[in-house]
Amino acid sequence: MLRASSLFNWLVAACLAVLMLGTQAAQAAGHERLSLDAGWLFHRGDVPMPPIKGHGMSYHNGKANNGWGAAAADFDDSAWRRLDLPHDWAVESPFDRNENVSQGYRARGIAWYRRYVQLPEADRGRHIELQFDAIATHSTVWVNGIVVDRNWSGYNGRSIDITPYVRYGADVNTIAVRVDADAQEGWWYEGAGIYRHSWLVKRDALHIATDGLHANPVKQGGRWTIPVEVTLQSSAKGTREGVVDVVVTDPAGREVAKGSARARVGALDSAVARMKLDVRDPKLWSLARPNVYRVRAVLREGGKELDRTEVQTGFRTIRFDADRGFFLNDESVKLQGVCIHQDHAGVGVAVPESIWEFRLRRLKEMGTNAIRFAHNAPAAEVLDMADRMGILVMDENRNFNPSPDYMKQLTWLVRRDRNHPSIILWSIFNEEPLQSTEAGYEMSRRMVAEIRKLDTTRPVTGAMHGGLTTDLNAADAIDVVGLNYQIWIYDDYHKKHPKRPLTSTEDTSAFMTRGEYISDKAKQVFGSYDDEPSSWGNTHRQAWKAIGQRPFIAGSFIWTGIDYRGEPTPYQWPSAGSFFGAMDLAGFAKGAFWIHQAQWVKVEDRPVVKLQPHWNWAGQEGKSIRVMVTSNAERVRVVLNGKDVGEQAVDPYEMNFFQVPYAPGRIEAVALKGGREVARDVVETTGAPVRLVLTPDRKALAGDGLDAVPITVSAVDAQGRSVPLAQNKVGFALEGQGAIIGVGNGDPNSHEPDKASERSLFNGLAQVIVQSRREGRGTLKLRASADGLQAAEVELALNAVAAPPQVPTAEPTTPLLSWRVSPATAARPDPNVVLAETDMNSWGWDEPPMRRGPEAGAFRLYRSSVNVRDDRNDGRAQLTFGTLAGKAEVWVDGAKLGEKTSAEPAPFAVTLPKGGPRREVTILVEAAAGQPSGLWGRVVLERGAR
Ligand code: GAL
Repeated sequence: MLRASSLFNWLVAACLAVLMLGTQAAQAAGHERLSLDAGWLFHRGDVPMPPIKGHGMSYHNGKANNGWGAAAADFDDSAWRRLDLPHDWAVESPFDRNENVSQGYRARGIAWYRRYVQLPEADRGRHIELQFDAIATHSTVWVNGIVVDRNWSGYNGRSIDITPYVRYGADVNTIAVRVDADAQEGWWYEGAGIYRHSWLVKRDALHIATDGLHANPVKQGGRWTIPVEVTLQSSAKGTREGVVDVVVTDPAGREVAKGSARARVGALDSAVARMKLDVRDPKLWSLARPNVYRVRAVLREGGKELDRTEVQTGFRTIRFDADRGFFLNDESVKLQGVCIHQDHAGVGVAVPESIWEFRLRRLKEMGTNAIRFAHNAPAAEVLDMADRMGILVMDENRNFNPSPDYMKQLTWLVRRDRNHPSIILWSIFNEEPLQSTEAGYEMSRRMVAEIRKLDTTRPVTGAMHGGLTTDLNAADAIDVVGLNYQIWIYDDYHKKHPKRPLTSTEDTSAFMTRGEYISDKAKQVFGSYDDEPSSWGNTHRQAWKAIGQRPFIAGSFIWTGIDYRGEPTPYQWPSAGSFFGAMDLAGFAKGAFWIHQAQWVKVEDRPVVKLQPHWNWAGQEGKSIRVMVTSNAERVRVVLNGKDVGEQAVDPYEMNFFQVPYAPGRIEAVALKGGREVARDVVETTGAPVRLVLTPDRKALAGDGLDAVPITVSAVDAQGRSVPLAQNKVGFALEGQGAIIGVGNGDPNSHEPDKASERSLFNGLAQVIVQSRREGRGTLKLRASADGLQAAEVELALNAVAAPPQVPTAEPTTPLLSWRVSPATAARPDPNVVLAETDMNSWGWDEPPMRRGPEAGAFRLYRSSVNVRDDRNDGRAQLTFGTLAGKAEVWVDGAKLGEKTSAEPAPFAVTLPKGGPRREVTILVEAAAGQPSGLWGRVVLERGAR
């Protein structure tokens, strides 16, 4: 029997514990954004939900926490693969001609992810949000068996308030995500899985809403102002009042404006704090000087900081003129744009930020000043990068549909992105069959209106590939008419609609294979001279000629800047990737890269010249070879083995061609301006490859588990010259705290795996991508070897950096939940009494902690069941009771496993013998006379000592 004094002591201890929790909660403050990328468990394939049958199961199925199968907290995921996000499972699949050509012949299917998370007691009372930056394609998310989100697009982020469902302290929370990638939204490779980052964001109950800081500068009457809106939300129980302090800093970090506003927020409500901040003489954001300002909002209450958030923005004006195209800061800028998808060699759509930086840098090198992220929103960090690098962006919505579910995707996009100086256009659709109809008009009108509610500073476009001649069509609802292809209607349309600003939203669509100069249908390759347009498109040169010469067309968006998987048009199997790119999938230049560089880079900024093809034409001696010279200078001269072959005035659209009788040696292109040489390109006939060379894009990387470096693999001859036709198979070995995360070579016909430690050179080049490990230190050493060639080695320094804060991975401790509790009885009941499956009411329902009495009847039965994980079904697992009050017997599947003989509240545990996975657990509790009893602590199945 429990003595009164010890019960008192125990109560005092419990009260103290509660008080301590209170102070801990009071200490936890501010904004915490923790990476949730590490430590997921993954299962490829569906885990079908069990069929709902029988009254008990049906009854439970109608309840909030009805997550069955892999959605359930006690699901056995012990055999699942452990991995870190971002993750694209499609790129791990082999090529299979029975799969969809549009998705690059990669299997998609359904898969599950699970993650265990513990939250300290100090988090109780805070607002807890689970964020996924994107999941391809349809996703359902459960937290502790409760469905918390369903999302039907692979391109939008989700911010899920999970505060009501989470547990704190020793309890482990289960996040389960079912991803259905059988659903498709595109006709290109889309990847599959949680392919962008995931986060756990903890804030005060009164906090700044996700994407709740709107601070986009506007110029009015010659003065710059930032109308700031900060949306506050509260999950507190009563009305609260906060003060929002906003500070604007210039690119050097100096404060240039500040303001404050107060807002009262009712319980479970939101409110907006508004202010206008004047900024005098800001440094403008431009392509040459992308001055990025930062706006920081801090929310306080009674002087205590509750939350903070920060966005980057910039001061610039934009304008589309119906006659003269696009203006940035009142200066005419022709859009030298590319469309791109989001996958890269080796990594699929799970593209590290640093690889995006590489891609954008390569595009800038080509002269690109604008990107249309086709046909979906890019990752947030890519837009930050575009701001910093001075690239204009057309931000495109995926699904053309104003119905509520889809409209949410559009408003998410605008709310997330509306502060970026780089974004100059919202695009609501691409090539929609309804574009010519009244329905297309009405749908567009609604979507435009929704955008206007959130942003009035940027025009809206839509990419039309027809339908422009009807009386009422989608073009009537948008601000800037986007034309895909249809070069032939530019003049007519402009004449008929002289007030409508026009841009190409898509043009070109011509085919090229990197390093090939002869088109060969049998081999499914294209030459790189730019004379292979699609039947609906134009060559790179034709398209730019049409656009470059028409001031009323704001600019070009070529299809595409970089190759992508899927859409191997005009071919199919074995071709699995596109031929459209100016660069291949790894970012290596094709012929079109050099054409655009000559067209788009100003000679005053950077004189360029490039000679194509390679000069390895053994057997063709004396035969005429077509030489293409691309340059932004005034004249170009070609020299073969020291002798002039010819000189031409540069044609800035068509470029320059020479017929040169082949003789091995050295061929040069000399670019001239004002009669002086300003650039030169040299191409030499090489010998056979003798040695491999590794050329990293950078020599060092951050040891944060995120940073990744592309390394170019090539083979050189005895004189150290890159061999353009080398096709050697190269093996890689990496030493140090990092990993090879993918390999590629830009050959759309290759079926070699992306996830591998070997890759063949394709026309002289391959790429291997290495990524640091978290808390990586020291040196990464990559070695490349190939049969018959001298191996290459490169070292990369791993800079020790503080890894971004993350949510630790918790051990899965299976909780026993949904307890049935018998009425109290004076006599000892039979612990194995059968409770009818249809009886939902004679025994109660409860979850630990379950405290009963003191009461008349001393005995009660508590019953639950548990799914025993395989890694706990070893005869050693412990069924542990945080605090069991009263004498107790523990029965499992009709057998008594243990007995607690003292009535004093105390921890208790029994060892679970091996058996079937599902066990029924009954606890018979006998209270000490006049004392409370029950399962006062949590009940879990834990790994036993080894
Ligand atoms: C366009 C379409 C693009 C791509 C391209 C290929 O019609 O918008 O997504 O399919 O054709 O030429």
